[in-house]
Amino acid sequence: MSVVAARPEVTGFFDKRTFSIQYVVADPATRKCAIIDPVLDYDEKSGSLATRNADRILDFIAEQDLSVEWVLDTHPHADHFSAAPYLKEKTGAPTAIGDRIVEVQELWKEIYNWPDFLADGSQWDKLFAEGETFAVGELPGRILFSPGHTLASITYVIGDAAFVHDTLFMPDSGTARADFPGGSARRLWASIQEILALPDETRVFTGHDYQPAGRCRCRS
Ligand SMILES: [Fe+2]
Repeated sequence: MSVVAARPEVTGFFDKRTFSIQYVVADPATRKCAIIDPVLDYDEKSGSLATRNADRILDFIAEQDLSVEWVLDTHPHADHFSAAPYLKEKTGAPTAIGDRIVEVQELWKEIYNWPDFLADGSQWDKLFAEGETFAVGELPGRILFSPGHTLASITYVIGDAAFVHDTLFMPDSGTARADFPGGSARRLWASIQEILALPDETRVFTGHDYQPAGRCRCRS
């Protein structure tokens, strides 16, 4: 199957609190799927965590009779926690992120003076290297290293779909900030060029929609 012919079913789940979009990417032939960038709900005032977003995704997966093969993060998120560990517990599917996460963790360990923190990426089951391939059912997946927003950001290219998270935003929002530790506007620019060089048929899925000027996403 050519990469462009492989067309996953993509369903987005919008989190109104963080303007994040979480994705379920399914292979129509095998009913296997990957979950990308799931949000763990966090209430700043009470400091409490909840799994409303993740449970909504699990309900959808059960309704659609899908089985989860991967729980994927594109990068460490500054605006929300990842529900990947919870979804791993519920589905048994392995979690993954880009292997440069180790460099981000080393930075954090130093900045936040957190000597006991294990900066080895062992919080995920799999650390993907640039160019590494994987599969969702029969759909081919590939890792594009997309640093800039964070130095560990990756794009998951699955069939004709690219999950770019913060590397690109909606056309009326631009790009993500590049001023977090390890961020770089220069590298972000180069990463965007690589995404734009993907085949024209590529569907690009962003990780946020901030709905500027009151633009409504109209589906939640
Ligand atoms: Fe981000």
